[in-house]
Amino acid sequence: MAKLKAGVLISGRGSNLLALLEACAAADFPAEIALVVSNRAEADGLAHAARFGVPTQIVPHGDFADRESFDRVVSAALEAAGVELVCLAGFMRIFSPWFPAHWANRIINIHPSLLPSFKGLHVHQQAIDAGVRVSGATVHLVTNDLDGGPIVAQAAVPVLPDDTARTLATRILQAEHALYPLALRWFAERRVRLQSTPGKPDRVVIDGIAPDGAVLWQA
Ligand code: GRF
Repeated sequence: MAKLKAGVLISGRGSNLLALLEACAAADFPAEIALVVSNRAEADGLAHAARFGVPTQIVPHGDFADRESFDRVVSAALEAAGVELVCLAGFMRIFSPWFPAHWANRIINIHPSLLPSFKGLHVHQQAIDAGVRVSGATVHLVTNDLDGGPIVAQAAVPVLPDDTARTLATRILQAEHALYPLALRWFAERRVRLQSTPGKPDRVVIDGIAPDGAVLWQA
């Protein structure tokens, strides 16, 4: 079966991009990264893509009068590269309603908390301030509801008594690097389905994976 072509959108460091690039480098991994797009020319992640020989494109958001014109250019670049699934990896732009509608059910994000807890920014500080014992990471479908789309997979990570936002972020990031490639694999293996029940939010079902298989536990 042909490999699934993924496109990755970044804005900065790109450590999740690197985890995806490393996973895709394995001959038997069912996905490949066809394009990396950054809205910032100075994003460190661009160097990771170059090292793996993956094409990159910089689309500076400041060049556009409004969000939708930026989104349409990014989308056209992804489509020109044959991208089937868009993976957000530290992409710090909010889309216009057009983009998630255009890529409906073909766009995922990784967020460093156990959603629906702690949406938005300063997520690790939010978790520490709330006194939770467990936080983690979530891969979810992207909809117009910020950090609110159907959940694909989660990783649970302990919050330790002495944690600062920085130490917690480091521990969760390690889990992200395992979780994101796993979720990409499921998409590439065509296991991911959306289950709709009238009156309820859509749910993601992963065919052929035991119910607890969509959770990673990290000590
Ligand atoms: C990660 O913590 C990710 O969950 C969040 O932004 C951060 C990006 O880090 N959405 P990196 O650029 O992948 O290193």
